Amino acid sequence: MTAPLIDPFARPISYLRVSVTDRCDFRCVYCMAENMTFLPKKELLTLEELDRISTSFIRLGVQKLRITGGEPLVRKGIMTYFEAMARHLDSGQLKELTLTTNGSQLRRFARDLADCGVRRINVSLDTLDDRKFAEITRWGKLKQVLDGIEAAQEAGLRVKINAVALKGFNEDELFTLQSWCAARDMDLTFIEVMPMGDLGNEDRLDQYWALSDLRERLASQFTLVDLAERTGGPARYVRLEETGQKIGFITPLTHNFCESCNRVRLTCTGDLFMCLGQEDMADLRSPLRASQDDAVLETAIRAAIARKPKGHDFDYSRQRVDGQVSRHMSHTGG
Ligand code: 5AD
Ligand code: SF4
Repeated sequence: MTAPLIDPFARPISYLRVSVTDRCDFRCVYCMAENMTFLPKKELLTLEELDRISTSFIRLGVQKLRITGGEPLVRKGIMTYFEAMARHLDSGQLKELTLTTNGSQLRRFARDLADCGVRRINVSLDTLDDRKFAEITRWGKLKQVLDGIEAAQEAGLRVKINAVALKGFNEDELFTLQSWCAARDMDLTFIEVMPMGDLGNEDRLDQYWALSDLRERLASQFTLVDLAERTGGPARYVRLEETGQKIGFITPLTHNFCESCNRVRLTCTGDLFMCLGQEDMADLRSPLRASQDDAVLETAIRAAIARKPKGHDFDYSRQRVDGQVSRHMSHTGG
């Protein structure tokens, strides 16, 4: 029997987020610079290597796998990887295979994803206004994303919308987004903008919109019922009694959720981040490439988990960004 992964604070690691590419067909202003230099292909884990690492984690007790990017569906041949992961769903070792996507490629891939055993997906969508969508994503086409979401629902995938809450940008769309999702039987989660990457032109402190305020605005129109449900991450959920809809709040900066943290993040180059808010990481690509025997890799995974910190240091409270992390979301994968 292999012993499951337990970190030094007795938290079982059951959730792995895998970034399969740093590339994206959008250039969201809070995520990327317009002129991004992406990693050379040889730096990336191959699809076979992604399979080997994921499979090792699953052998060590990971039950939920979320595929992220960049935009995961722009990685060439990515369906081969999803097909490979389907075997772990079939064996029952993996309980859930899911992804976070910008939705642009869903018309093409939704059916295949469903065939691989994907049941639920998260689609990032901050606005329903054509012009604002073009402004925030720089390169995105709203129509293509809406069509992708429709394709996902046609394929039987359950869709959750993730919207980054941005002051002065989508504040006025709170109820538009909420009712649009309710009409399509989709849950909706708001994310507080995080101090990732270089602040550059877009000062994220200016765009910071506290979700406590957003929640109060919702409460002025609906009866909010707090749900006990936690996913081990920074999300909390309420149900709107009038619509039955679930609304989530991801507040990585204002709430301390670290004590229940059950997750680690693998970048597309094989670095394992044990905490979203800390710089410490473990290189898994070297042990992976050092030997065809997964025992070497598994030793490296265990050593990394033994270094998982107790919590993160983000702090917006003093009107400056403390504990800011210099990497971009497209690298760590949200
Ligand atoms: N703050 C909050 N969310 C972010 N995302 C990307 N960059 C940031 C940021 N700085 C989100 C996207 C998407 C997910 C992949 O990460 O909007 O929902
Ligand atoms: Fe692409 Fe998502 Fe980053 Fe936007 S937030 S640029 S869709 S990876």
